[in-house]
Amino acid sequence: MKYSFYATPNRRNLNILNKWTYYPKDVLPMWVADMDFPAPIPILNELHRVVDQGVLGYEIPSKSLSETVAARMDHLYQWKVRPESVVTVTGIVSGFNVAARVFCSLKKGVLIQTPVFNEFHEVKNNIGIPQIDVPLVKSVDGNILHYEIDWDVFRKQVKKAGMFLLCNPHNPLGIIFSHKDLLRMAEFCIENGVVIVSDEIHSELLLGGNQFTPMAKLSPEIAKHTITLVSPSKTFNVPGLFCGFAIIQNKELRERYKKEVEHLRLHVNSMGLHAAQVAFSGQCDGWLRELRRYLTANRDFLVKYITENMPNVRTTISEATYLGWLDFTRTGIKGSPYKYLIKNAKVALSEGKIFGSDGKGHTRINFGTSRKILKQGLDRIRRALP
Ligand SMILES: Cc1ncc(COP(=O)(O)O)c(C=O)c1O
Repeated sequence: MKYSFYATPNRRNLNILNKWTYYPKDVLPMWVADMDFPAPIPILNELHRVVDQGVLGYEIPSKSLSETVAARMDHLYQWKVRPESVVTVTGIVSGFNVAARVFCSLKKGVLIQTPVFNEFHEVKNNIGIPQIDVPLVKSVDGNILHYEIDWDVFRKQVKKAGMFLLCNPHNPLGIIFSHKDLLRMAEFCIENGVVIVSDEIHSELLLGGNQFTPMAKLSPEIAKHTITLVSPSKTFNVPGLFCGFAIIQNKELRERYKKEVEHLRLHVNSMGLHAAQVAFSGQCDGWLRELRRYLTANRDFLVKYITENMPNVRTTISEATYLGWLDFTRTGIKGSPYKYLIKNAKVALSEGKIFGSDGKGHTRINFGTSRKILKQGLDRIRRALP
């Protein structure tokens, strides 16, 4: 079957705030991490089926849903997970906040690698714990940005942590960490009794020929110390349904985690449960293959456009996600490029500073849209540069 990503539905006519209604009508939204494409048909059919039977009653995660999640891990990575290791959560952000409640304290904080997803920075405020930063180190080759781990800093900082919140693939940098890096990070965590919470929400949005391996798959010892967070929400563009999964193979960690989920009464929306069952069943994988091709071409278009038309802007080449990271520090824009571009280009990107202080002078761009809208946004940015 052929899928089309060229036409995107109009979300401006919906009366609840969303990516397209948040800013004034003349501003092109390329910010929050959802895509402009409709979700795949099998998921939409399932939701129609539920609505058509008329009752929107309480539903709870079924054994068959846990089996479906476990089967997907086996199918994608030959990672053998028992269905009872799967804990359903109300999204990945609540999933890692729950972990911080259980595994962090005033003395043992949450370790993060900045610049990183803004919600990682909120954990310290939500739970009242220290945040321990291990900034990724930036280098530039031509106009292409690279980021690497500073191992001395990691080794020193990990001692202060109760939990390491890993973002892999990384938002906003699009990095898939190498096995070597993952093994080394895990080794430091295990040595220091630090629980690894691996946010792998973007793991199925692979670009080009890139491959992914879950942190917990790397060794049974690592699996014992790891909570893996996965979800269909980014991959199949159903983030508004808020359903995700914490895979916890270590029974002791799992029991502590589950207890907290139960205490907080984090019940998942029934539509989210139905969508996840279909999304992870494999019925949408043809759509996903086409999506990855389209997103890969969008990433290539973005990098080429910037290289050829905006020599003072630097960019990452994302290995996964539909997110790019742009460095405007050499463009002569004074102050925040995010604010400058809303005003002068009528394009809303994401403010770099929300990903950490090292994001100052940068923005994140969402290229999960049609090529036409992507080009329109880039044309507007190019014309507005000083
Ligand atoms: C790394 C990462 N984790 C989690 C989320 C959001 O997860 P959820 O909507 O399931 O809470 C996002 C959304 O952008 C993300 O990029």
